[in-house]
Amino acid sequence: MNLFILTGAGVSAESGLGVFRGPGAALWKRYDPMQLATPEAFARDPALVHAFYNARRRNLLAASPNAAHAALARLEAGLAQRGGALTLVTQNIDDLHERAGSTRVIHMHGELLKARCAACGAVSDRREDLSTDSRCDRGGALRPHVVWFGETPLYMEEIYAALEAADLFVAIGTSGAVYPAAGFVREARARGLRCCELNLEPSENAAEFDERRYGRASEITPSWAQEILAR
Ligand code: OAD
Repeated sequence: MNLFILTGAGVSAESGLGVFRGPGAALWKRYDPMQLATPEAFARDPALVHAFYNARRRNLLAASPNAAHAALARLEAGLAQRGGALTLVTQNIDDLHERAGSTRVIHMHGELLKARCAACGAVSDRREDLSTDSRCDRGGALRPHVVWFGETPLYMEEIYAALEAADLFVAIGTSGAVYPAAGFVREARARGLRCCELNLEPSENAAEFDERRYGRASEITPSWAQEILAR
C-alpha cells in the first residue's frame, strides 16, 4: 500500500500546541493572522511577529508528541516492513512527528525550529528566540522559516508527485480551510483514490471524503492505523 497522509494542527492539539480554527480557544480567534503571519506584517512590525513565533517555539520545546504522532510513526515502519510506503505531509511547523519517530516528514508550511535569512535564503537550525538583531553568518536578517499567508508552500512538486503515486489519501486533524492543502482531497479523488478524513469534527470539505471518522486524534488515529496494518 502506498499511503498519502496530510496532517494539520489537530494532530498536535493534545500536545498542547493549540489549533488555529475549530471549537474552543483557537489561535486565530485570539490573534489576527494578517498582523502576524504575512510578509507585510513582518515588514511592518518584525518585533511583534518574532514575539509571536518565539512564544510558539518555547511552547513547542516544552511539548511532547502524543499517541497520534506515535501511531503514524509505527504505521510508517509497519508499511515499510510490508513493502509499502507512507508519504507524510504536514501543515504543522512543529517537529512532533519527527520526535515520535517518523523519518520522512514533508513540512509544507516550514519549520518553527529553523530560521531563514531574508537576504540570502540560507536555512539554519534555531531553538532560541529570534529578534530584529538576529543575523545569518553572512549578515542578513533572520526570519522564522515558516510559510506565511500570501507565500507559496514548500515542496509542492514532490507533494503532487506523491499524490500521483498513492492509492489511499488520508487527512488527519485539519480544518480544510487553507489552500493548497485543502485541495489535495479533490486532486486525490480526481485520480480515483479512496479518501478518508480523521478529525474532531467534519472539516470544511468533509463531503469530499469516502470515509469519515470523528474523535480525538490520539484515540482515532491509533485504531485506524492498526486497521491499515492488519489489512
Ligand atoms: P486548523 O486549526 O485550521 O484546524 C484544526 C482542525 O483540527 C479543526 O478542524 C479541529 O476541529 C481539529 N481538532 C482540534 N482538536 C483536535 C483533536 N484533539 N483531534 C483531532 N482533531 C482536532 O489547522 P490546520 O488545518 O492545520 O498556516 O490549519 C491549516 C493552516 O492554517 C496552518 O498550517 C496555518 C494556519 O493558518 C499558516 O500559518 C500558513
